[in-house]
Amino acid sequence: MKIIESSQNMQSLALELKSLKQKLILVPTMGALHEGHLALVDQAKQLGDKVVLSVFVNPTQFGAGEDFEKYPRPLEKDQELAQARGVDYFFVPKASEVYPAGDQTVVMVTELSRGLCGAFRPGHFRGVATVVTKLFLICQPHAAVFGEKDYQQLQVIKRLAQDLHFPIKIIGVPTLREKDGLALSSRNAYLNTLQRQIALKLPQSLQWAVRAVQQGEQESRVIKEKIIQDLQDPQIKIDYIEVVDSETLEPLPKIKAQARLLAAIRVGETRLIDNLPLKL
Ligand code: PAF
Repeated sequence: MKIIESSQNMQSLALELKSLKQKLILVPTMGALHEGHLALVDQAKQLGDKVVLSVFVNPTQFGAGEDFEKYPRPLEKDQELAQARGVDYFFVPKASEVYPAGDQTVVMVTELSRGLCGAFRPGHFRGVATVVTKLFLICQPHAAVFGEKDYQQLQVIKRLAQDLHFPIKIIGVPTLREKDGLALSSRNAYLNTLQRQIALKLPQSLQWAVRAVQQGEQESRVIKEKIIQDLQDPQIKIDYIEVVDSETLEPLPKIKAQARLLAAIRVGETRLIDNLPLKL
């Protein structure tokens, strides 16, 4: 596995691979790799000839008071995991490589970024869209792979790729979960034992909703009210529970095909998100 720190070297390599008709597949991450990220690598390996995994804790997608400083950065372990999983290029740029001195350019996907997490994390998706655009231009991939756990992010990036005419396939990979159902996330490491137990209420209530819809429930209001009730706990603060159209992310009062349930809660200081499709 080749380690690349410079954006210029990464871009030259990407252009060379392109001229050789080699398909490079990008897996963008912020590091603290877990099985969920490694499943993205497995998918990437199916899609092309070479895999580049980027590790960059992007400062512009963190708001004031969020966890940018304390975000885990186990770089050596990440490197080992990436290598063991067959990553070809480990792109680990410094902030000054991604945001050169005097940088003034941002990318915004307006409507899709507004609600859900966007309403609770102002500027977050602008930071994501900007860094992903930069990574696309630096790495020139044939395809890029993202987890469905960050479902709004995935829709924002699909829109961005379409709107900016990037010839890049955007591939979503279903969420990987612990045995007990908790979605894998680098932020799970912040939870203490009790909070880890309490956090399980989130996947459990989403799974309840999936069953309720299968058994005929069609009112989003009923689903949301029951989940809010089930999530009552002194350690939980609900940011949102929403049933939305899976592409436009518009709220759906009635469940229809293409409905998706998205939720964000805080357990103590830790923000957790999760989502599942609701199939009639
Ligand atoms: O999902 C993430 O890890 C990040 O938001 C991403 C896509 C790597 C952009 O920083």
